[in-house]
Amino acid sequence: MSDRWYEKAVIYCLDIDVYADSDGDGVGDIRGLIGRLDYLARLGVTCLWLNPIHPSPDRDDGYDVEDFYNVDPRFGTLGDFAELLHQAGNRGIKVIIDLVVNHTSDKHPWFQSARSSPDSPYRDWYVWSETAPADRHQGMVFPGEQDETWTYDRTAKQWYYHRFYKFQPDLNIKNPRVREEIKKICAFWLQLGVAGFRMDAVPFIIEETEPGNPNSPKNLEFLSDLRQHIQWRKGDAVLLAEANVEPAELKHFFGDDGGSSNRIHMLFDFMLNGRLMLALARRNPEPIIEALRETPALPDGGQWATFLRNHDEVDLSRLTAEQRKDVFAEFGPDENMQLYGRGIRRRLAPMLGGDRRRVELAYALQFSLRGTPVLRYGEEIGMGDDLAQDGRNAIRTPMQWSGLPNGGFSTADPKDLVRPVISDPEYGYEQVNVTLQRHDPASLLSWFERMIRTLREAPEVGSGTCTHIDIPAPPGVLVHRADDRTGTMVFLHNLGPDDGVVDLHTLEPEAEFPNDVLADSDYPDPGKLDALPVKGYGYRWIRLRRKV
Ligand code: NOJ
Repeated sequence: MSDRWYEKAVIYCLDIDVYADSDGDGVGDIRGLIGRLDYLARLGVTCLWLNPIHPSPDRDDGYDVEDFYNVDPRFGTLGDFAELLHQAGNRGIKVIIDLVVNHTSDKHPWFQSARSSPDSPYRDWYVWSETAPADRHQGMVFPGEQDETWTYDRTAKQWYYHRFYKFQPDLNIKNPRVREEIKKICAFWLQLGVAGFRMDAVPFIIEETEPGNPNSPKNLEFLSDLRQHIQWRKGDAVLLAEANVEPAELKHFFGDDGGSSNRIHMLFDFMLNGRLMLALARRNPEPIIEALRETPALPDGGQWATFLRNHDEVDLSRLTAEQRKDVFAEFGPDENMQLYGRGIRRRLAPMLGGDRRRVELAYALQFSLRGTPVLRYGEEIGMGDDLAQDGRNAIRTPMQWSGLPNGGFSTADPKDLVRPVISDPEYGYEQVNVTLQRHDPASLLSWFERMIRTLREAPEVGSGTCTHIDIPAPPGVLVHRADDRTGTMVFLHNLGPDDGVVDLHTLEPEAEFPNDVLADSDYPDPGKLDALPVKGYGYRWIRLRRKV
């Protein structure tokens, strides 16, 4: 069995500022999170991914960093952070942090120095152009909120490059001192005890931007270099990257042409995410089958990270216009739910009309597919979104712990909260909260605990192979299997509303005491596998065999 921890991890992603506020100032903090570690351990989470923790003007939810060697004072101190690592470690939970080094905040002292004079030692840490680059209205990541990628700086008297918002000037990866600094930042946090990094915007980090060239070359070698560096500093540290690129390009992010995984360990599977949304919207598993078929083979040690929701909009940009139309129609019909023309700023439960069967189905499906599952905070209790908030903040509202004021997130005056707690009659904190669900064995939270426990007894899902079983099945039903040396699991997920029956008798010779380890209802014993009923929006995880 592989002992790569990240292949068997359950990753939970959270923003400290909206998770738990220990001192009543209205902003979540590290001590608040420490107080919730037992909750996370009980849920079965084995790794936390913290959205940016650094000091920041916070104009992009912390993705605009002002100091890479500290934590935001609103969250606590470096001492608190070390304590978090210790306390999490005591509970078997690793911590990875966002590494946002494509750009800095324009308030970062490096940029302030760089713009102040052509002789600044930091001038060449950023990307400049004497003249207005012809491609300055191309390549925007946030259309509607951003209208150029080059902005004229009056102090510097030059144009600077920013792939994202204009307050996020890009660092110049061509500069060896920048590359060394990135390695130093990683070494610093590894030394403190983090287990790795969620690397933000990797295709842009390695872009050797040339003014006027919208297809600037990419320095993929830097990824090999960084990997070697972090592995040398901490053998089992991981890089988990955001690289939403064309499928043909993906393999270069995992490793060089030598065939081993010597760059990024794990990539978010954006392609699968879009197809999952399409499959759920159409109530038809075909897009997932296609995704499984088209997934490039990964080098040994390379791993996908699967997700349904993250801290950004659901990104549908890799779907065709017609596919996108279907997903919008089903999950984001109002303009106010859509963002950047490509995405949906909603959480999963409201997208699925609050239908508990479909929420379970969607998460059972995600967690059973190949790769390491990543779960966004609040999804485990079926939190909703707040469309009155700007842009992506709709899905960044405070965690709903209880029916107490502010949902138990903070004792501050509601007007001082970092963001309002959801209080509508359907998804508000009085109806949807941890405390209520903890006491209810039939709640979504209790279901998540069971599902994650079951997954952790099935190492073949994270570490093994995942294959679609191509047999005649009712139209809504996806049948797939996971195999490794420890055993085999078979999965039925019915994305459609109609009950169906699946005949899997061809697998009978492989089966030893097949049994349902997780299912939406009580089904008859799988027997000879020749007539396996699965309800509309139902699912069955069947253990076929287990080797000891
Ligand atoms: C990707 C992050 O997920 C997003 O939230 C952020 O705005 C951009 N990168 C810029 O850092």
